[in-house]
Amino acid sequence: MSHHRTEDPLGAGFRELWDQLAPVGRDPDSGGYLRYAFTPAERELRNWFAAQAKRRGMPVTDDGNGNLFAWWAAPDTADDGPAAEAGTAATARAVLTGSHFDSVPHGGGYDGPLGIVSAFLAIDELRRAGTVPVRPIGVAAFVEEEGARFGVPCLGSRLLAGAFDPDRAAELRDADRVSFAEALGARPAGARPDLLARVGAYLELHVEQGRALAGGAAPVGVASAIWPHGRWRFEFDGEANHAGTTRMADRRDPMLTYAFTVLAANKEARLRGAHATIGRVRVEPNATNAVPGRVTGWLDARAAEPAVLDELVEAVRAKAADRARRDGTGLTVVAESTSPLVAFDDDLGARLARLLGAPVLPTAAGHDAGVLAGQVPTAMLFVRNPTGVSHSPAEHATEADCVAGVRALAGALAELACR
Ligand code: GLV
Ligand code: MN
Ligand code: MN
Repeated sequence: MSHHRTEDPLGAGFRELWDQLAPVGRDPDSGGYLRYAFTPAERELRNWFAAQAKRRGMPVTDDGNGNLFAWWAAPDTADDGPAAEAGTAATARAVLTGSHFDSVPHGGGYDGPLGIVSAFLAIDELRRAGTVPVRPIGVAAFVEEEGARFGVPCLGSRLLAGAFDPDRAAELRDADRVSFAEALGARPAGARPDLLARVGAYLELHVEQGRALAGGAAPVGVASAIWPHGRWRFEFDGEANHAGTTRMADRRDPMLTYAFTVLAANKEARLRGAHATIGRVRVEPNATNAVPGRVTGWLDARAAEPAVLDELVEAVRAKAADRARRDGTGLTVVAESTSPLVAFDDDLGARLARLLGAPVLPTAAGHDAGVLAGQVPTAMLFVRNPTGVSHSPAEHATEADCVAGVRALAGALAELACR
């Protein structure tokens, strides 16, 4: 008895690429990913990117900042040498789509790579349908989106957009004191207005990172905005001393100031309907039997409105400073990165929402699309996340929803680059 099942080529295509990526940089204990910029795992993904591009006859360029681009040139721009480089004439401005490979520590597999895998598969889908671009289509892989290695999120796209000083970027150091310039193998090129001028639109498909689509009928949504957010390093200085012999009254213990600050951040965020997290801490000397000499905590704060975010960070800082006075400790606060409120292109978003019949939703997660939105009409597609969990090994999207995402992206590319 023959049992015929017509396999959806997109489902098979998705599984093939997804299975190739699945083992890369996966920690067998946590099940999460350690894919930091320019580490062997992320380099393997970059090589995979080059191989996928080659398989599709797409030349790869880089922007001197660590970001990669693979180009499907429109026929009438194809002999322009590196048409490659992103379209040629103003009439042929490219449509760029993609995301990032790097992860947070023990992150999920979808945050980032889903946008790149979907981009290649969307191109396959267009080619299968015989759709021909009239504008070049580029697939982008941005570097250091999470800031997990060098501390500044969206570093690659910020450099490209001229939103971060390349000299300062060159000197950013990872935990082993390796600089970004050393990891990149060069001083970053910084702003590339020449390249961005050739991009007419940027589209980033991403796994949804909350529950905005969960339980609803739509597998794909369109982004309206990104909450303003940032990272502040709180350094609490005290006096390292013996845990047994130092009288309680004689201590200057920065752990106390730190602990109070964690609670204050939570309370101040709740009071404002905002989000505040201290998810990373460094204790020196980090000994069980020593009062610490220094504690460093990183505050991640986000709010729907810039004024609320400012107020929130100021309130946490004021409470920490007040507590430091009582603990006899010192406090220094350094803003490591800030990301302003992003409103994505209304016309583009509305057009895609109509085309795809997709709901429109804001997010509190940062993206390279948020950086590029300042320079290029930009939109994001979100793929439903059934639990809303992200930045965790439990991050997930079903294969059917990922395929729906590819189909949506192909539809969006057809609309923007093929007519
Ligand atoms: C990026 O994922 C961020 O929002 O931190
Ligand atoms: Mn992320
Ligand atoms: Mn991401």
